[in-house]
Amino acid sequence: MKVLVTGGNGQLGRCLQDRLQYTDYEWQAPDQSNLDITDRSAIATYFKIFQPDIVINAAAYTAVDKAESDQENAYLVNATAPGYLAESCQTAAIPLIHISTDYVFDGTATVPYKVSDQTNPQSVYGSTKLVGEQIVQSTLSEHIIIRTAWVFSEYGNNFVKTMLRLANFHPVLKIVGDQYGCPTYAGDLADVILKMVMQVQFGQKLWGLYHYCGDQITSWHGFARAIFDEAKRQGIIDNIPQLRVINTDEYPVAAQRPQYSVLDCQLSFENYHVEIANWRKALTRVINKI
Ligand SMILES: NC(=O)c1ccc[n+]([C@@H]2O[C@H](COP(=O)([O-])OP(=O)(O)OC[C@H]3O[C@@H](n4cnc5c(N)ncnc54)[C@H](OP(=O)(O)O)[C@@H]3O)[C@@H](O)[C@H]2O)c1
Repeated sequence: MKVLVTGGNGQLGRCLQDRLQYTDYEWQAPDQSNLDITDRSAIATYFKIFQPDIVINAAAYTAVDKAESDQENAYLVNATAPGYLAESCQTAAIPLIHISTDYVFDGTATVPYKVSDQTNPQSVYGSTKLVGEQIVQSTLSEHIIIRTAWVFSEYGNNFVKTMLRLANFHPVLKIVGDQYGCPTYAGDLADVILKMVMQVQFGQKLWGLYHYCGDQITSWHGFARAIFDEAKRQGIIDNIPQLRVINTDEYPVAAQRPQYSVLDCQLSFENYHVEIANWRKALTRVINKI
């Protein structure tokens, strides 16, 4: 079984590689410089040489605020390129696992979003990711799309690393307290993806749309609090900065975020024996690794 992971240098890409090395799969996880997914012919060539049996698209344009002024590139990476991958998968008759986001929703809900709920993205990032989902769905029937949220890990750029960096310089931090979601450890998501790869390998037809995120709802302020409590417990910081709760409108950014983007994962996964992971446990491991 040959597994191709695109976006090998991202948080998810790196967590997938950490786990793939302990499997029997033959795998490759090229970074952007080795496989640019916006290059249609590069994808075709890569497929011809490596001949994957399944593709996991972990590549994306994830700079949410930058996307507002860089719409064309965001669309190319998040919408057009997944179409190229789906097209090559269709030609090779192999499945594609594609990752999407909670930002496809507008965040006005008060209960967790189900996969069947109406999408209504409020940002360029969210809109381009939604079009990416739709292109994959219409190009390739053998697809799995997993929407996730608030991804953190020991790799790349994420909220955990930003908080720990800021703590070094700022005794007081203002953190948004009126946006709610579920942090997701990229390693837990990688475990779920590889579990699905294994099920596909053994003939299960899991095609469709799923939600996967960590298990406890929190705000960015609550997440920051958990990060600093854990960092202090592990002796990584001497003092916890004073955390001031602010509202979304007190922290102006280019892209509008969903106020509430909790994903209902239970229904979509209950038939596939996927457990929703405790992000606080993962946070302990991630801070230890950082
Ligand atoms: N991060 C989050 O909070 C979050 C939340 C919800 C959903 N998601 C989704 O989860 C998935 C994984 O996200 P992540 O956090 O692992 O993102 P990430 O750390 O930003 O990684 C994305 C990777 O994609 C690569 N990439 C960008 N353009 C590319 C191209 N044209 N060709 C090949 N690779 C390209 C980037 O390369 P460089 O390293 O060269 O920049 C980067 O390594 C994405 O689909 C994302 O939309 C993420």
